[in-house]
Amino acid sequence: MDLFDNIPIEQQGLTAEQEIKALRTELAEQNYKYYVLSAPTMSDREFDEKMHRLQELEAAHPELFDPNSPTQKVGSDIQPVSGERLAVSGEGFPRIKHRYPMLSLANTYSREEVEDWVRKLPPNVEIVAELKYDGLSISLWYEHGQLVHAVTRGDGTEGDDVLPNIRTIAAIPQTLIDAPERLELRGEVLLPWERFEALNKQREEQEEPLFANPRNAASGTLKLQDTREVAHRGLTCFLYYMLGEQLPGRTHYERLEQARAWGFPVSDAIKICHNVDEVMNFIAYWDTERKNLPVATDGIVLKVNSLAEQEELGYTAKSPRWAIAYKFAAERQPTTLRQITYQVGRTGVITPVANLDPIQLSGTIVQRATLHNEDFIRQLGITEGDRVFVEKGGEIIPKIVGKAEDDTTRQSSNPSQPRTPSFITHCPECGTPLVRVEGEAAWRCPNELSCPPQLKGRLEHFVSRKAMNIEGLGSETIALLYDKGLLHSVADIYSLRQEDLAAQERLGDKSAQNILASVEASKQVPWPRVLFALGIRMVGETTAKKIAKRFRSIDALQWASKEELTAIEDVGEQIADNIVAYFADLRNLEIITRLQAAGVQLASNEREAAASVPQVLAGKTIVISGTFTEHSRDEYKQMIEDYGGKNSGSVSKKTDFILAGDNMGPSKLEKANALGVKLISEQEFLQMIHG
Ligand code: IVH
Repeated sequence: MDLFDNIPIEQQGLTAEQEIKALRTELAEQNYKYYVLSAPTMSDREFDEKMHRLQELEAAHPELFDPNSPTQKVGSDIQPVSGERLAVSGEGFPRIKHRYPMLSLANTYSREEVEDWVRKLPPNVEIVAELKYDGLSISLWYEHGQLVHAVTRGDGTEGDDVLPNIRTIAAIPQTLIDAPERLELRGEVLLPWERFEALNKQREEQEEPLFANPRNAASGTLKLQDTREVAHRGLTCFLYYMLGEQLPGRTHYERLEQARAWGFPVSDAIKICHNVDEVMNFIAYWDTERKNLPVATDGIVLKVNSLAEQEELGYTAKSPRWAIAYKFAAERQPTTLRQITYQVGRTGVITPVANLDPIQLSGTIVQRATLHNEDFIRQLGITEGDRVFVEKGGEIIPKIVGKAEDDTTRQSSNPSQPRTPSFITHCPECGTPLVRVEGEAAWRCPNELSCPPQLKGRLEHFVSRKAMNIEGLGSETIALLYDKGLLHSVADIYSLRQEDLAAQERLGDKSAQNILASVEASKQVPWPRVLFALGIRMVGETTAKKIAKRFRSIDALQWASKEELTAIEDVGEQIADNIVAYFADLRNLEIITRLQAAGVQLASNEREAAASVPQVLAGKTIVISGTFTEHSRDEYKQMIEDYGGKNSGSVSKKTDFILAGDNMGPSKLEKANALGVKLISEQEFLQMIHG
């Protein structure tokens, strides 16, 4: 297949300038999704191909040079300070300037290019072949034998210091014996396959979005503020590069051996090669063998062994000339798209699904793949009966990456006929006309209250652990009770009777009793969680808490104006509209009346209100920095909110004080000093709120 087959049709026929612009925008957006959101929507290969295409175009048009082009920069995982809403999970780490820029590697998917690279090296050079680990890069700083910082790549110049999270990795030594005064080790942080699968299983059970691959899971994990959760997830690490002044060793290999001797986790899958054949054998061997490794790899890295020769070869703006990465191709197979069917999700989103002629891909049989939404189908330009390519790479979930061959006969017989089938207009489950909210990619069934999958979804959400925590009502039982006509709304849960439940084949007396006991207990669930349980669109757990704090009963909330709602932190126009729309629907009001009659907590009760804590931090903007001993960072964040204060990720003139733990980030400290912002210790803070 041609390297540039994936360039979208709409970009063909563009001028070079237009194509360059389009590619720059698209790649910059993908960099953001990859590095900041840890949720890329493009495969690595597609990204690399587009990057190559852009490089090629820019080389042919030097007059269009732009220093901000993605070809000139390393992608960045630094959290944009202003994008707080998007970047919730990663804010709050001190930023640190790299002592040595953190470069990436030139990469290729072509074995011929690898051969070329080797052949162009000076004669008789030794080449170290290593595995390319597919996680995220980290730089470990040691001073006087102590681990003092662990910095992510960031934009290559400056990264986030995620030291507390790195300390959870047992394989990384905290202290070195007989090491130079200053030392930097670089490597890859990884989440082993086994841990990744367990994490996704748990997330599925808790209805949280799944990570697409171990790399995204590792990246999401490193950004967490809760070290206990990080430790629980079980990250691991391999180190592959040592930096510093007056280090021992004349070759890269010797340095890795030294790193191993100091106790660092260095992979055994390393070989010194002397010619192209040895390099190719290494590649061929690991292309298959890597499937048996406990962690993800996506290629091979080749490095010139001699440090003196490395220095002679030097660097480009982005990468060393003395190294190259060969990336393994994702497994790809052609097959026929038989039929497009449509699924209605629990939130009413309609997802088109490709039903394929079964094919074998990376050890599993694939016969279905998501087509995401209407735009995705249009971009691929595919229709039923087409031959398509299906790919399974680092992404566990197979996906359709393009048309395998053009069906030119069909196109030429009637060029005016659209190639893509028209998207359905009515819900396949309940027949309601579909709607598409402006700016959203998805079509949706608006019949939230009685479209069967949506209703079952609402019921499942209502009983879930973080909502009403009703045990015994799993998705199968809910489906059963729905089919038997016993559950039509969340209010019906409080009318379930022992005899009706016990009469169900799969339940029996004991389970029926347990369910009803749990239903009874749910009447004590406090108002903020009940509000979350109601499942108003986009009102998640945290937002529900904030709303419930401002409106202390559903009666008050029911009459809230849009302006009052948007005045609450985290509540934007859309959420406010959803809340107003929720109370405008009579069917919801009936549900609320029935929940109220059943004794569900639809207001903060008196005891709770009385026990509500004094608002000693009212009006204060507080920044948390460093590590703590008494409580986790998340707990401190919650305390700040509970006591009326506001959390902020960065130090500014508006900051009232910094809750400063150990190892506070130097950049925050510097800024605090410059602005004269006070630092409050953990103990002082606890005294402040507990009196
Ligand atoms: S060497 C200056 N070796 O691949 C050389 N990188 O774009 C620095 N990677 O950012 C990198 N395994 O995150 C090197 N054995 C290995 C590697 C490796 C994975 C990652 C690393 C780097 C990226 C290349």
